[in-house]
Amino acid sequence: MQFSTKIFPQADLHSPKLLKAGLKSVLANATDCLVLPYSKADFEGFAGAKGAKAQAGLLGELDQFLGGSVAHAKALGDLDGKVTSVCVLRADKSWAAAGVKAKRVLLLGIGDLHSAADRGLIAYSKVARAALKSLSGGSIENALWFTPGFKDLKDVASVAEEVRLTIQYAGDQAYRFGVRQPAMKFKAKDTADSFKHLTFAGNDAISKDLKLAVEQGAAMVEGMNVAKDLGNLPPNICTPTYLGKTAQALAKKTSLKVEVLGLKQIEALGMGSFLSVAKGSDTPPQFIVMRHQGGKAGEAPIVLVGKGITFDTGGISLKPGEAMDEMKYDMCGAASVIGALYSAALMGLKKNVIGVIPTCENMPSGGATRPGDIVKSMSGQTIEILNTDAEGRLILCDALTYVERFKPRAVIDVATLTGACVIALGHVHSGLFSEDQGLVDALTKAGQASLDTVWRLPLDAAYHEQLKSNFADVANIGGRPGGSITAACFLSRFTEKYKWAHLDIAGTAWKSGAAKGSTGRPVPLLVNYLLEQN
Ligand code: BES
Ligand code: MN
Ligand code: ZN
Repeated sequence: MQFSTKIFPQADLHSPKLLKAGLKSVLANATDCLVLPYSKADFEGFAGAKGAKAQAGLLGELDQFLGGSVAHAKALGDLDGKVTSVCVLRADKSWAAAGVKAKRVLLLGIGDLHSAADRGLIAYSKVARAALKSLSGGSIENALWFTPGFKDLKDVASVAEEVRLTIQYAGDQAYRFGVRQPAMKFKAKDTADSFKHLTFAGNDAISKDLKLAVEQGAAMVEGMNVAKDLGNLPPNICTPTYLGKTAQALAKKTSLKVEVLGLKQIEALGMGSFLSVAKGSDTPPQFIVMRHQGGKAGEAPIVLVGKGITFDTGGISLKPGEAMDEMKYDMCGAASVIGALYSAALMGLKKNVIGVIPTCENMPSGGATRPGDIVKSMSGQTIEILNTDAEGRLILCDALTYVERFKPRAVIDVATLTGACVIALGHVHSGLFSEDQGLVDALTKAGQASLDTVWRLPLDAAYHEQLKSNFADVANIGGRPGGSITAACFLSRFTEKYKWAHLDIAGTAWKSGAAKGSTGRPVPLLVNYLLEQN
């Protein structure tokens, strides 16, 4: 999928004065489909086929250029003015005679601009999805898209948000598994969508912001595609070594600097907790560090830490067999961190960002950790492992100690950490845990701006009680009540030296059932968060 911008200097469809000339210039542009949003007021102000008299307003002016086909569609009831309704008009000879080069015009109902329900990003997302769906799977290869500017028709910020969201959804729609993975020996199952090129139309007033938003959105889709591919790849291909190789391959394409530490180096760092998970597997653990140096040399970095369990059997505390294949997705935290770093590099983000990924398998074997084993973390704290299936926190805690060396301005870890989070929040919001209000606000806002949302859960001292151990400094489980919270509390014990937030993406990173597949979340959230930091 390709994204681009096209500027029509005068095209301001909201200014009655410029409407006619603007429309003319836009319609004279060759495209398979011109996507034009119209409001309820536009619809109501258009009388339809009332004689041959020229009518003012968007639809009236358009009808002049399109030889009456707008009025015809209205008479047939195809153009109904409702929000999310899509009406595709097809060119005939009269269009060409009027200088129209668009082969189709898709009239997109954006509803009542004075009603709160029809405004805002959630409403826009439904409108955009409806239009994208009708562009897909047919003979339309490219489209020219007019973004309405939902919050305020002249609000550039809202246009940028809408453009990025449209690109995000177009990327979701165009995604096919495996097509860009060299490791896939078998043929990709799906064929590519016929719809391949989306161009955003703008005028002089928004040209700079529009171009930037399109670049950012396109870079975000690339990061999401990487995250989705890594998540969807089978666990016999997507091993810790494969994750490291992927990070290195992305570094070759960009300015990212990547370092991959192996077993010996992880041992030398004293990561006894991480290694206790890795030791049941025949495949070696890796510790990946990715750097995007977009800011000044000494500037404190934002650090992202991702859980990279390439397969979670539960270890000796073996999981039940049902849907165990989905535990290949237990590296989606890592995948989203790799994806976000790739996006940051592609968009030339002017900040320092570091991605850190502890990655291994959680397998049962003669060499595996037992329930009851006590291990020493890199921080020096000893951990009594009461359940080997609570392994994510065991690999993350050492990574959280490791990142102290970067003197980070903020650390955000991303993990498919607990089944309890799926029970608490379902598949809608990711769990957000942090005691730093600034981080909570920033991440919440970034989630809302990309509709990749989070919901805050508590981290109070009272929950820490559940992690007491009779034999070590801390236990790795706190029982079933508040399982996501005690998991986050466990992590918080290793984050005292910096501002920290934890995202539990167990319910949001992938879909089960017929639509089984990685969602690419929370790459949009992370990218939006990074973009918003000064
Ligand atoms: N990777 C799982 C969490 C998970 C389970 C995510 C199901 C998505 C769907 C994690 O390692 C795990 O097994 N957690 C245990 C913790 C428990 C043993 C305290 C869980 O959630 O059951
Ligand atoms: Mn587990
Ligand atoms: Zn796990």
